[in-house]
Amino acid sequence: MSANGSGSTSALAELIAAAVAARANAYAPYSRFAVGAAIREAGGALHAGANVENAAYPQGQCAEASAIGAMIAAGGRRIAEMVVLAEGEALCTPCGGCRQRIREFADPETRIHLCGPGGLRRTVTLGELLPLSFGPANLPP
Ligand code: THU
Repeated sequence: MSANGSGSTSALAELIAAAVAARANAYAPYSRFAVGAAIREAGGALHAGANVENAAYPQGQCAEASAIGAMIAAGGRRIAEMVVLAEGEALCTPCGGCRQRIREFADPETRIHLCGPGGLRRTVTLGELLPLSFGPANLPP
C-alpha cells in the first residue's frame, strides 16, 4: 500500500488515465460538467465511463453508473478501487444514488479516489461516503 492509499502509484496513475480518457468523451451539453470514472477489479481489469446527459434532464446518467455498466457488461462483479474525476474548485464526490450503486459491488473499505485535473485530490472509503449502508447481505437469504 502506498501513501496515496492505492495498491501502487503506477496502478493509480493508470486508473486516473482511464478516467481522463472517458471524461474526454462525456456527453454533458446541459451542465457542461464532464465527469469520468474508472474501476479497477481485484484481478486488474479496468472499466471506465463518463456522464451521459439527456434533454429530459432526469434521464441523465452519472459517470460512476456508466463505469459500473461497463464492468458488468465485461463480466466483472467486484470493485477493488475507483476513481471519480472532474474539474472545478470543489471535490467531485459521487452523488447519493451512485454511492448506493457502488455499494452493490464494493465494500465499506473500498477506496474511492477523488481526482481533479492535477490528479489525486483525496482518497475516501465507501464507508465514509455511505455509512451504515444497506447492501446485498442486508437482504434475508
Ligand atoms: N455527475 C457525475 O457524473 N458524477 C458525479 O459524481 C457527480 C455528478 C454528473 C451528473 C451530471 O451529468 C453532471 O455531473 C452535473 O451534475
